Amino acid sequence: MSETQIVWKEGALSDFTFKDQIVNHNLHNNPLFSDEGLIKIIDNYPKDRLEVFTMGYDERGWGDWYLGRRGNLDGRQLLEAVKNGRIWLNLRQCCDYNPPVKAECDKLFNEIKEKTGISTFKHDMGLLISSPNAHVYYHADMPPVLLLQIKGIKKVYLFPPTEPYISNIDKEAIAIKEHDEQLEYKPEWEKDAFVHDLKPGEFASWRQNGPHRIVNHDCMNVSFSIEFMTAQSVWRANLLYANGCLRRYFGLQPSLEKSWKIFEPLKIIYARIVKLMGGFKGHRSIRQPCFSLDETNLGVIHFDAGVVPPAR
Ligand SMILES: [Fe+2]
Repeated sequence: MSETQIVWKEGALSDFTFKDQIVNHNLHNNPLFSDEGLIKIIDNYPKDRLEVFTMGYDERGWGDWYLGRRGNLDGRQLLEAVKNGRIWLNLRQCCDYNPPVKAECDKLFNEIKEKTGISTFKHDMGLLISSPNAHVYYHADMPPVLLLQIKGIKKVYLFPPTEPYISNIDKEAIAIKEHDEQLEYKPEWEKDAFVHDLKPGEFASWRQNGPHRIVNHDCMNVSFSIEFMTAQSVWRANLLYANGCLRRYFGLQPSLEKSWKIFEPLKIIYARIVKLMGGFKGHRSIRQPCFSLDETNLGVIHFDAGVVPPAR
């Protein structure tokens, strides 16, 4: 293994969190993330926290995202089910349950701080293990994200965090957790996307709140979705939170770009007060599981009675 996790070529992570870019790393060579290593990570992770999803077939569509049950499958069986099926495993905050993975995560952000001078915190290193041709619909996240590829290839489509790709109202909705993070997608925007086939040894870093969609090539994919915060990203998240409340409670029309900067500190205080008083009450759906994984034919999915499976 190389000493550094990031391959610090000229310009790597310049304008960090303000630019869409692909950077090289060495983590795909780490034995921690071999098939046997992944099985260990899955088996060390709390059984009921592991999320299993499947999805519809139109990658530009909307809403066909289903939560399932892992049943009694262990790490080895889950990996086999992912290889054979159409499944997306999400192990949120996986480094909290795997000290060696946490050590790698800390090392990564220490390196970033050393080379860019930018301090990060609230690290959330989630492991994504997903089937050939699986995809994630168009959506945006509140924290900045690094999508780090370990195995397989996925096509990432990154869009600017501005109109028309995402409105201020949508960004605020994500900040105040008004509803789920998925956004409506227009195929004519595709020409404006930063598109890249993300390979092992690469990670993508994009602008905070930049909408994105992701489509696996015809191979199993292992990636880390690493969320984090910087002082500036927290400021922006709180501004959006305040703007969201001002719009919804008082009918104001705030704008991240056009509102007066002089009022920003007041808005940050306002966001803090609303959160202390219990926060904005949104309508984020709590997804109920609606399918099970076959425990003999690994990769086969059984939808519950009454659930309409996605149309091909
Ligand atoms: Fe995302």
